[in-house]
Amino acid sequence: MLLVAIETSCDETSVAIIRAGEILASVVSSQIKLHSEFGGVVPELATREHLRNLLPVAREAFERAEIKPSDLEAVAATQGPGLPPALVIGFQAGQALAYSLGVPLIGINHHEAHLYSPWIRGNRAAFEAFEPNVSLIVSGGHTMLIHVRGELDHVVLGSTVDDAAGECFDKTAKLLGLPYPGGPEMDRLAQAGNPRAHEFPRPMIHEAHHDVSFSGLKTSVRYFLRDHPEVLNSDQAIRDVCASVQSAIVDVLVQKTVRAAKRTGVKCVTASGGVTCNRALRSELQRACDKSGYQLLLADPKLCTDNAAMIGILAERKRLQSQRPTPISADIRPSWSLTQESTPV
Ligand code: KG4
Ligand code: ZN
Repeated sequence: MLLVAIETSCDETSVAIIRAGEILASVVSSQIKLHSEFGGVVPELATREHLRNLLPVAREAFERAEIKPSDLEAVAATQGPGLPPALVIGFQAGQALAYSLGVPLIGINHHEAHLYSPWIRGNRAAFEAFEPNVSLIVSGGHTMLIHVRGELDHVVLGSTVDDAAGECFDKTAKLLGLPYPGGPEMDRLAQAGNPRAHEFPRPMIHEAHHDVSFSGLKTSVRYFLRDHPEVLNSDQAIRDVCASVQSAIVDVLVQKTVRAAKRTGVKCVTASGGVTCNRALRSELQRACDKSGYQLLLADPKLCTDNAAMIGILAERKRLQSQRPTPISADIRPSWSLTQESTPV
């Protein structure tokens, strides 16, 4: 099956072309520079950028894949969750394209696509190696632990009760005067910092449920900086705070993930979402999984942040498993949660 996938749920405009489990082209235009001036994503600006960039990005994807729109057999687009005006741009483009070509439209849940992205190796989906797993999705807006019992069969075990892990990185980075988005910057500075310099709280780490909370950690960093303003005058002291905060976030994520794997009895752990680019998280998850005998699949860093390739790969699996297409007149689903029915409406 040859399909195009469109992703515009937040601040990346992306189009991918997929055929038989292979990514023929994947083009991502990131708006990070535009939003960094404002310290976060501005929905109105994101929407205009999607409008400006979607057709050039799509044209580039078709050229790279050496196919024409008339060759397509299906159209996939992110239907939710995400910023409503941003979602509308990509989803309506997908609806118009599917309608004009007379091919099925597949509206995709963005988080469900993250969930299966660790199974993409290089340019190919490797679902023949699929194993039931516990999956950690960590992004700027979400932190979730999910039991993937089988392909397209998953149940949410826990999620954040307040700030997401990426949000915690971004907000503490802001307190330290670092540029947006703070996660990659903290990752970089933490490389030369001492993770044991400060003992920040590890919220909910010992609690039996699978939920996490990061707002207490952020508040404790705020109080620490209020009481030690001199930290902001020293590059090494900033690196030490970055490493210590990162270590607290990573400890919580790793321990909660491994505990969920033990509870569910799976043999495999996966992770995806922007924060999965974090080097300490990748290495600590690997260490913990090796120690407990779990197979670990981490999404490729290129596929951790938002992209249309993961949308298209999931859409193809859904079509192969005969899931119904999305009605051509469907609306976007900005609050579409994974705990809700994940079949099309
Ligand atoms: O998945 P994503 O691209 O967008 C959302 O759907 O939110 O995730 C973006 C988040 C941001 O909070 C960013 O700071 C964080 O991922 N991030 C990182 C790293 N790279 C991106 N956090 C920590 N370390 C990184 N290397
Ligand atoms: Zn995402």
